[in-house]
Amino acid sequence: MTFDTVAINQHLNRFDGHEEVWLFGYGSLIWKVDFPYIERRPARIRGWARRFWQGSHDHRGTAESPGRVATLMAEQGAVCAGMAYRITPAVFDHLDMREKNGYLREIVMIEFPDHDATEGLIYIASPDNEAFLGHASDVEIATQISRARGPSGLNRDYLMHLAEALRDMGESDAHVFAIETQLALIDET
Ligand code: SIN
Repeated sequence: MTFDTVAINQHLNRFDGHEEVWLFGYGSLIWKVDFPYIERRPARIRGWARRFWQGSHDHRGTAESPGRVATLMAEQGAVCAGMAYRITPAVFDHLDMREKNGYLREIVMIEFPDHDATEGLIYIASPDNEAFLGHASDVEIATQISRARGPSGLNRDYLMHLAEALRDMGESDAHVFAIETQLALIDET
C-alpha cells in the first residue's frame, strides 16, 4: 500500500448517512485539535497497543530522515487510552489529509469511563503501508525521534506533547513513557 491514503479513505464510507460520528484519537489527535467537534470525552479501546512504529515523512520528519509517530498494533489484552470526539462527517475531509501518510480509517468499539460504549472510527497505520517502520528498542526509537524534524516541527515535540496529555488525563503508557525517559537521557549526554 502506498503512503498516500487520502483517496482510499474517501471511499471508506461506512458511516454514510450518519449526521455524527465518534472518532478515537490516540496520538496527535489527543493534543493537536485543529478540527471542530461537538463533544469530546476521554475514552479507551481494547485489543490495541499504542506504538511509535509508524514513519513520518510529511509531518515530523522528511523522506531522508523520517520521524516516528504513533500507530496501533493489535495485541490481546491491551487497552489504549485516548480522547474521543463526536464530529460531523464533513470533518473527515480535513482529517484524511492530515492523516494521509499511511493511516486508514477503521471501525472500533470506543468505551467511556461511565461504561457507555459506541462504535466509532480510528486512523490506523498498519504494517503494510510503505511508511511503516516497525519495532525498535526504546533507545533506538528515542534516538531517531531526537534527530527528526519535519514541516510540523520537531519529532520530539510530538512525543512530549503526547506524554504530557496522557499524564494530564491521569493515564499511563509504558511504551510512551519509556521513550520519553530515553529522550531525557539523550538530552543529558
Ligand atoms: C491519532 O492520533 O489518533 C492518529 C495518529 C496521529 O495523528 O498522531
